[in-house]
Amino acid sequence: MKTKSNRIEDIIEYIYKELKNKYQDNEIKSFVNILFEHFAQLNSAHIMAFPQETINESSLLEIVLATQELKKHKPIQQIIGKVDFLNISLEVNENVLIPRPETEELCQTIIQENQEKNLDIMDLCSGSGCISLSLAKNIAQSKIVGVDISTEALSVARRNNEVLGLDVEYIEANILEDFNVDKEFDIIVSNPPYVMNKEKEQMEKNVLDYEPHLALFVEDENPLIFYKAIEKFAKNHLRSSGKIYLEINESLAKETIALFSSEEYSYQIVKDLFQKDRFIFLQKK
Ligand SMILES: C[S@@+](CC[C@H](N)C(=O)[O-])C[C@H]1O[C@@H](n2cnc3c(N)ncnc32)[C@H](O)[C@@H]1O
Repeated sequence: MKTKSNRIEDIIEYIYKELKNKYQDNEIKSFVNILFEHFAQLNSAHIMAFPQETINESSLLEIVLATQELKKHKPIQQIIGKVDFLNISLEVNENVLIPRPETEELCQTIIQENQEKNLDIMDLCSGSGCISLSLAKNIAQSKIVGVDISTEALSVARRNNEVLGLDVEYIEANILEDFNVDKEFDIIVSNPPYVMNKEKEQMEKNVLDYEPHLALFVEDENPLIFYKAIEKFAKNHLRSSGKIYLEINESLAKETIALFSSEEYSYQIVKDLFQKDRFIFLQKK
């Protein structure tokens, strides 16, 4: 199917017709705004005010191609190649998890609770760099290291670091193997893979088909494998009174907390904006 013309109103009609069986109206409305903004540099107020205006052929082609990708459930963030996260904009692609609002909440809390100077912070499983880079941007003079196993994800994080003019150090390593850095940290933060394979069937097609499974899934038999590695890392690398901030599987809060000795740590389980047990915050005694 084609658009009737290059007029904004005809393109909007085309987008709605193509996507109506795949998405809710409010989602399509948001896609319309994002597509016009990104590919034609026209904001939502402009497209509402001037529906009979035309856009050029190349912008039209990009919007049509993007609409076809949306029809196949490709995430809009991958189509436009970027995402806003707190007060920074990040490049994303198929090699990184698209940062989630819950992770934004986590970073917001860390920023609010830690405005001291010269903090050493470790971000385990750093992906696009959303956690490490937003902390670097918002906690002055922090020295941050990010670690990930994926060369491709690290390339994205390093490009984001450069574009934002920040100074995060990224290391390629498997945190499940004997991973070591010659340094201690005031804060260890991690949003590791935590979705069990058996939870796959409840997941949306756009996540399953387009986001890296390496970033998402853990074996049903050992779902806390990453948290065990984080606990081990913290034993040797967290300063006294240091803090650990973890994003977790909402169905495994008690099991996750049980990995950390209550003699060594005080802790709290914290709910996310959807009222799910999503975070564990610990402090070394
Ligand atoms: C849930 S994603 C989180 C990414 C990012 N921190 C965020 O919050 O959006 C988990 C990340 O862990 C990385 N990862 C998977 N296995 C790993 C391992 N064994 N060692 C280090 N990183 C690993 C993946 O490449 C992915 O980037």
